[in-house]
Amino acid sequence: MNILLLGSGGREHALAWKIAQSPLLHQLYIAPGNPGTAALGTNVALKLSDFEAVATFVATHAIDMVVCGPEQPLVEGLADYLAQQESTANVRFIGPGKAGATLEGSKDFAKGFMLRHHIPTAAYQTFDGTQVEAAKRYLKTLTPPLVLKADGLCAGKGVLILPTHEEAFQALDEMFAGKFGTASSRVVIEEFLQGIELSVFALLDGCGGYVLLPEAKDYKRIGEGDTGLNTGGMGSVSPVPFADADFMRKVEDKIVRPTVEGLQAEGITYRGFVFFGLINCAGEPKVIEYNCRMGDPETETVMLRLKSDIVELFIAAAEGTLSEQTVETDPRAAVCVMLVSGGYPEAYGKGYPITGVDQVGKDSVVFHAGTALTDDTLVTSGGRVLAVSSYGQTLQEALAQSMDGAAHIVFKDAYYRRDIGGDVIA
Ligand code: AMP
Ligand code: GLY
Repeated sequence: MNILLLGSGGREHALAWKIAQSPLLHQLYIAPGNPGTAALGTNVALKLSDFEAVATFVATHAIDMVVCGPEQPLVEGLADYLAQQESTANVRFIGPGKAGATLEGSKDFAKGFMLRHHIPTAAYQTFDGTQVEAAKRYLKTLTPPLVLKADGLCAGKGVLILPTHEEAFQALDEMFAGKFGTASSRVVIEEFLQGIELSVFALLDGCGGYVLLPEAKDYKRIGEGDTGLNTGGMGSVSPVPFADADFMRKVEDKIVRPTVEGLQAEGITYRGFVFFGLINCAGEPKVIEYNCRMGDPETETVMLRLKSDIVELFIAAAEGTLSEQTVETDPRAAVCVMLVSGGYPEAYGKGYPITGVDQVGKDSVVFHAGTALTDDTLVTSGGRVLAVSSYGQTLQEALAQSMDGAAHIVFKDAYYRRDIGGDVIA
């Protein structure tokens, strides 16, 4: 099997690491990839927004399967585009078409979908710029903190949580005035949910079959103790201790299965990952959001714990036979610690040489997130630079391994959190 993996971050390096272990793999290409994925396959300089270029590459390199890491090409309809071209129509594609990706691409669609299929989520209403007064009246019925969400894709920045009605009214005006471009021309206002979050991942085959992957929890704030600005993710853990068998049964019965059946009922053929962003409200799981892809940095722990051959699962997803598959999970724990550039998520420097990546212990894997090669020297090239993911018998042990690994890696102004998993480690 020749596989083209799309994307360039830590998530894609982790997917490439797992795909490369499959005996079913012949050639792996990653577009555009990063210096980490270059060690596992061939990086290809493709722009993912250029569907024609992707199709040409697929057709001319005997690609059997395309796996899409990020949401943007899915929301823009890459799967549908390839299915419509004669030369790529038969290529297996892991990732939903435009209709399925709308679960992530429109928060209003996702909320309506959950309402239609009785999937537990926060109460909400959606408003556009002509309904400012109605939106403010609805806000007044809610108790702070107040949650405002831009309807469209905003690279993870479209959710605002405001402590007072005054601030929420002002934020609403700014959103309708174009704070997030057209993404905030409609705004979802919803009830604030109290609880602890986790990420659950399913792979769907478009025929009603699905498998669950190991669950994970990510840490979004820059500072220890979950303080400071939001980031793309500072680390992750898997398993999540409170997601015991009883809780996961509720997740499957009340959320995962109704979602799969809801997609079927609405005629949406969904072949790919669904990322359920959940919150545990006093023992009851509720959906905060859907994503149409894997999480980053959750993938950097989930892939360590997935024992099954991921290519076999992808083939079953493409062929509609996932209900016959079982997923084998590594009983060990995994913790990912993200090394970021000093200053991130605000302004930061780039181009600093990195050393020590090959010095980490045997229980750790280093995934590249924002690195580049300059004359054979590995340098920083993004806010999130490297993800150190480690195994341990317990989360504490895995965290200790990742701390040890991180301590070996050196670049100017490097920063990482030392408390990843701290809130769930007993
Ligand atoms: P999202 O982009 O939808 O993942 O939202 C970003 C973050 O905002 C989530 O990870 C939650 O921490 C928080 N959030 C979103 N919706 C709610 C809600 N209804 N209640 C509490 N927190 C929320
Ligand atoms: N870790 C959250 C996300 O990938 O959106």
